Amino acid sequence: MESELQQLKEQAEEALQNINNDQELESFRIQYLGRKGGVITGLMRRLSSVDKADRPRFGALANSLKNEIEQLFEQKKNALGAGLSTKGASDIDTSLPGRFLPFGKLHPITQVMEEICSIFESLGFAVAEGPDVETDYYNFEALNIPPHHPARDMHDTFYVTDSILLRTHTSPMQARIMEKQDPPLRYIAPGKVYRCDSDITHTPMFHQVEGFLVDKQVSFADLKGVLTSFTHHMFEKELALRFRPSFFPFTEPSAEVDIACVICEGKGCRVCKKTGWLEILGSGLIDPEVMRMVGYDPDVYSGFAFGLGVERIAMLKYGIDDIRLYYENDLRFLSQF
Ligand code: DAH
Repeated sequence: MESELQQLKEQAEEALQNINNDQELESFRIQYLGRKGGVITGLMRRLSSVDKADRPRFGALANSLKNEIEQLFEQKKNALGAGLSTKGASDIDTSLPGRFLPFGKLHPITQVMEEICSIFESLGFAVAEGPDVETDYYNFEALNIPPHHPARDMHDTFYVTDSILLRTHTSPMQARIMEKQDPPLRYIAPGKVYRCDSDITHTPMFHQVEGFLVDKQVSFADLKGVLTSFTHHMFEKELALRFRPSFFPFTEPSAEVDIACVICEGKGCRVCKKTGWLEILGSGLIDPEVMRMVGYDPDVYSGFAFGLGVERIAMLKYGIDDIRLYYENDLRFLSQF
């Protein structure tokens, strides 16, 4: 009888050792300490059939086994509750070095945007940010794009209501800043913009950096100087620039700016579609009408503005041919930057 009790105790100890969660612990409780059909209850019931002479000793032994199992059960319960390892201390090798979590990195677009900003900051531009959810007034009207103007077609706008939309470009920041401050001004405005468009060179959300400068006697030469200096820093090469006449309602004259192809440097290749040039931004002298709308006298002040696409600059800088790669969150791609 004594050896039977000893065996039971060992079994219970071993079972407890292997328990790792509350569910297993509960089945243990039912199996050993359950009132109906539990091992201990079974033992107590057998007391009546034991010889009268042996009964006190058997009873005492069964009782102490019950107490021991209850105690072990409580210990296990506390250990599980505290989330402690139930392994013996000897199983833990405290001399092993800790495991490092991998470091995260800034997204390549964030990195390029920060680089663009820091180049313009070194040229004396201040950084300002504005709302992604914009009014029709700042996104269009203040930029000389009245209702029904054909230029609205190019913007593939996401409207929230008739007069509220997701900004389609960062240019609204020109009007927002100019109406609050007097010249001289030198600002860049980085941020997200939205257009209902999606293919290998367009995503519905992308990033732009707007830049503008307003002062007395600002000329196209100033614009050329600033953009030339920027591209040389950005691409770490003295690439040629080409100013191509263009049209934007908020600049007059307007120009799109191309750089000599970063891959073939002008000889013609697949990336530049054999033209030798890559378009990088839109720019121009701020239209007198935009000046008037913010209360500036265009006979006194003049200025230039430009807007560039961050994804596009990053694609050219790193030779990426599909814009969607930026937003698929594939770490094999992202961790290269
Ligand atoms: N806002 C224009 C666009 O998203 C880009 C642009 C062109 C900005 C000319 C300018 C500018 O400031 O002068 O297509």
